[in-house]
Amino acid sequence: MTTAKLILDGKEYEFPVIVGSENEVAIDISTLRAKTGAITYDPGYGNTGACQSAITYIDGDQGILRYRGYPIQEIAAKATFVETCYLLIYGELPNAEQLSAFRHQLTYHTLLHEDMKKFFDGYTAQSHPMAIMAAMLTSLSTYYAESDDPDVINLNIIRLLAKAKTLAAFSYKKSIGQPYIYPRNDLSYTADFLHMMFAVPAEQYQVPDVLDRALNLLLILHADHEQNCSTSTVRMVGSSRASLFASIGAGVCALWGPLHGGANQEVIEMLEMIQADGGDYQKYMNLAKDKNSSFRLMGFGHRVYKNFDPRAKILKAAADDVLNALGVQDPLLDIAKNLEEIALKDSFFVERKLYPNVDFYSGIIYRAMGIPVDMFTVLFALGRLPGWIAQWKEMRGDPSTRINRPRQIFTGATERHYKPVSER
Ligand code: CMC
Repeated sequence: MTTAKLILDGKEYEFPVIVGSENEVAIDISTLRAKTGAITYDPGYGNTGACQSAITYIDGDQGILRYRGYPIQEIAAKATFVETCYLLIYGELPNAEQLSAFRHQLTYHTLLHEDMKKFFDGYTAQSHPMAIMAAMLTSLSTYYAESDDPDVINLNIIRLLAKAKTLAAFSYKKSIGQPYIYPRNDLSYTADFLHMMFAVPAEQYQVPDVLDRALNLLLILHADHEQNCSTSTVRMVGSSRASLFASIGAGVCALWGPLHGGANQEVIEMLEMIQADGGDYQKYMNLAKDKNSSFRLMGFGHRVYKNFDPRAKILKAAADDVLNALGVQDPLLDIAKNLEEIALKDSFFVERKLYPNVDFYSGIIYRAMGIPVDMFTVLFALGRLPGWIAQWKEMRGDPSTRINRPRQIFTGATERHYKPVSER
């Protein structure tokens, strides 16, 4: 299969076909408008390939997710988040020397410029940490020069990864009115973040291993997911040659929405609502199915996965392990499991292929770890950072990248003429 034919208004046109390394097929319609005068119409871009990418592969029908060819199950069970960052951004798993150099760099760029603390002072305690994260990540561009020099880009990539966790922890400390805890160079990436979150100056705090392992797993599972809403935003903004920091800041804003990364916060709020309502699952199932209601079962459904979300499977098992290890009994976990069981038997959900997604069980683990609900999406952002960076880097290095600029089908008024207000 090398070409596809289109007949429009009785005339036949031929377009090249592109086949990916997993035999995914795309019709290259980049010359469509020039040849035919027509454009494609694909709201939500469900059928549009916006780029060619070698980073992450998803087969939504079979529930397959691979980072650079490695199955998510293997990476989740065996790798660290720092190795995963390296894999996504540089294309290969690091050898011992590369890993040690990368860890060293990530450790020695964690400090924020002291002046940045003044920004935090300006926010109220109620400020959502996602707003703070987006603003702060973009603000990094006011401290660190950016250019197209690959060494400068790489240094800024390291700065982003290293400083994002400091920014995230500071935004939490701000919200609870505690003093900021500075990064520690003797701790791993994940342990350092947990230390900055939970340590207080008056006490010694040892990061529990179980928290460290759980965070590592959660960040790995969120690390990339090909052309999702926030990643496409990063690519869209970056395609105008906007800086890395600005593009990532935009990605954080896109992630915040309840249909995307914000769903993890919504899931817990929904489970709490069901609990407060006496655990009446059926009422909420009916509401989710009611076309007159805007209520959706949060943490259910996915644009790409139509069988199961492999990340949700891993997290469901991890939720039991983490809660047991922490000695936490959370009634919300039982509610979630019951809800899943009922939904998976309900014809509405079965017909529409709606399964639990990554956000369904992640919030329960975060809750057990003592992470406040407002911070859930920030943790998603921290996990997604290497994916955004890898995709930004790939896009900027791709000579076929053009500024992203979709077209539209205009449905507004045709030409008309101005009348003075007295005549309207
Ligand atoms: N609850 C009830 N009905 C649903 C749900 C849900 N969670 N998700 C989809 N549907 C229905 C929807 O009403 C539609 O029904 P119909 O065909 O009768 O009109 C059908 O299923 C298809 O839904 P859609 O909205 O066209 O699907 P989409 O691919 O545009 O949206 C989604 C995908 C993830 C935004 C959507 O499933 C959803 O809103 N889920 C809840 C929010 C959520 O959990 N988001 C996290 C996604 S995973 C993490 C991430 O990538 O951010």
